[in-house]
Amino acid sequence: MLQWTKTQESEIDCMLSTNQVHFLAHMDEYVPNCGDVVELGCWLGASTVLINRYNCGIHRVYDMFKWRSYMDGMYRGSHVYMPGDSFLEEFQRNTVGCKNLSVNTVELLHYQFKLTDQIGVLFFDALKSVHITCNCLPQLLPWMVEGGLVIDQDFMWQPITHIYMHLFMYRLREYFQPIIQADVLVAWKVIKVPSLSVVTEACSLDGSLAEIIQCLSLRKNEL
Ligand SMILES: C[S@@+](CC[C@H](N)C(=O)[O-])C[C@H]1O[C@@H](n2cnc3c(N)ncnc32)[C@H](O)[C@@H]1O
Repeated sequence: MLQWTKTQESEIDCMLSTNQVHFLAHMDEYVPNCGDVVELGCWLGASTVLINRYNCGIHRVYDMFKWRSYMDGMYRGSHVYMPGDSFLEEFQRNTVGCKNLSVNTVELLHYQFKLTDQIGVLFFDALKSVHITCNCLPQLLPWMVEGGLVIDQDFMWQPITHIYMHLFMYRLREYFQPIIQADVLVAWKVIKVPSLSVVTEACSLDGSLAEIIQCLSLRKNEL
């Protein structure tokens, strides 16, 4: 079942559940006071507005800004979009009050990030395939600040699609500690920063079923 949310905390149509909106609106205690924000997958800007309230550096958002038919079911706005239409203008209108926003129209599957500063908050909401995840994580996780926050957000009606993300983070458990879960959103605190080679090795589909089972049961116990 598709879930549509519009609460007091987010006035913009979004693909987040009420619990997820609530977490993003009240995560002050977990957000470090240094580093940039990197947000992958902003759609109409609901998550952008919620995250932008925190006192961080540049807020870099990445999205292809191209309408897909699955978005119809979550949209109550007035514009009629056809698949392939750009929704960038609506995003820009919704986020006009946001500070230090850097908007990047990109296809994340092969995108090469050009980062120069460390990341305090990493919010993933566009990792809809293992290939995107394996392209982005090795480029981004080594840029995190210690004490930083990594948030994986996914549709609550598709809890299994991100299993690879949890497997990779389980392999990286020496570096990232799960601290909170809101529906299928999971947030990790950065305990220490992994190197590129460590993250690249973790982002592999090689592994056993036993490892996946261990990963799932440990996650359940820790959160
Ligand atoms: C679940 S929506 C994000 C929801 C948003 N965070 C919110 O608060 O409502 C996923 C977003 O990821 C973007 N996306 C999906 N695959 C992508 C890709 N390969 N490259 C760039 N953006 C992508 C989509 O355009 C969409 O805006």
